[in-house]
Amino acid sequence: MKIAVMGCGIVGTGVVEITDNKPDLMKNSAGEPIEVKYILDIRDFTGTPYESRVIKDIDIILNDSEIETVVETMGGIEPAFTFCKKCLEKGKNVVTSNKALVAAKAEELFSAARENNAAFMFEAAVCGGIPVIRTMFSSLSANNITSFAGILNGTTNFILTKMINEKMSFDQALKIAQEKGYAEKDPTADVEGLDAGRKTCILASIAYGTHVYPEEIHTEGIRKITLEDAAYAASKGYKIKLLGKADKLKNGKISAIVCPFFVEGNSLISGVNGVYNAISITGDSIGDVLLYGQGAGREATASAVVGDVMECARLKKNEKHYYWAEHQEDIIEDYELYENALYIRGYAKNASESIINIRESFGGVEVLKREDAPENEIAFITGKAKEKELRDILSELTDFAPASIIRIL
Ligand code: HSE
Repeated sequence: MKIAVMGCGIVGTGVVEITDNKPDLMKNSAGEPIEVKYILDIRDFTGTPYESRVIKDIDIILNDSEIETVVETMGGIEPAFTFCKKCLEKGKNVVTSNKALVAAKAEELFSAARENNAAFMFEAAVCGGIPVIRTMFSSLSANNITSFAGILNGTTNFILTKMINEKMSFDQALKIAQEKGYAEKDPTADVEGLDAGRKTCILASIAYGTHVYPEEIHTEGIRKITLEDAAYAASKGYKIKLLGKADKLKNGKISAIVCPFFVEGNSLISGVNGVYNAISITGDSIGDVLLYGQGAGREATASAVVGDVMECARLKKNEKHYYWAEHQEDIIEDYELYENALYIRGYAKNASESIINIRESFGGVEVLKREDAPENEIAFITGKAKEKELRDILSELTDFAPASIIRIL
């Protein structure tokens, strides 16, 4: 099978390398050789093995009937969306690693794929090399997915791990993440939870069969997490993790959220450190499944892309559509109605008086302690209740100023 790669950056280069360097594996496993015929890029790659394959015009790919599958590793919504749609309309399979594209435009691309008997695949769009998309679409398809929760962003997990294990501040840890090339120069998408939000939407769309958009889910990042919060978490055996999480609710709606959580220190997910990702999925027949691996990086992500390309070769003559239904209004429940216990840290003029008042107002709380805490600092964990009810009680407290609120998993 001849393929084209659109966008030869970090992941695209990995795709060309794997495909060029493993011809026997490609042939034996996919059932035919896989060859990168074109590389569409604005750069020339002069003096590299790619030079002779570089093209600048998408029409060359669209008009070449030999190209059966196109890899999109450009990133961003445009021109990636237009190019992918045109390829699908020509009956070419599209394989992408682009989570922004899938989260925003999957419905249209699924339609184009179905109408033209082509495949639209995106294993690499969620958690790099971890095989979560096909697992959810296919291997777990006999299950109603009751919930999933995952560390879906490697950069933030690296930063939190540094803060917790090495007592580094957020800014120090972010600087190291940038030096190591995990975080972008503008780290907003990672640290504000937007990247994890897109991945959560893709997984929720597969799990619950309806397109969930990033704008619909409450998203918080890790910028406000402090070493004080990490110390209070540790005092009760918790770790702080940024999770993307979704549950099917009894009323038929979906709860979906991205935010930091206190996670029990003896849970499997709390042991996932550094840039690693993990996703715990619960199905009604299978129970719990945990997937773990490298959620980013050139080779790990390229391995998922090339795996999809090989699947396109294998499934050539069969039904090959991934699919979820169109968006449903009001399917996502208001996050303030989710039931959680909350960790709350803040300051009071008179801490001992304020604690009495806090206990009474919440009907009992667990007060936390940490070394070297200033006298006016109070931290506690509430009982489990609808978040709105807990926040309403908090807003009524006149002698306590909250500084940090983190949900307990
Ligand atoms: N920036 C992402 C992460 C990788 O740190 O997990 C690409 O999704």
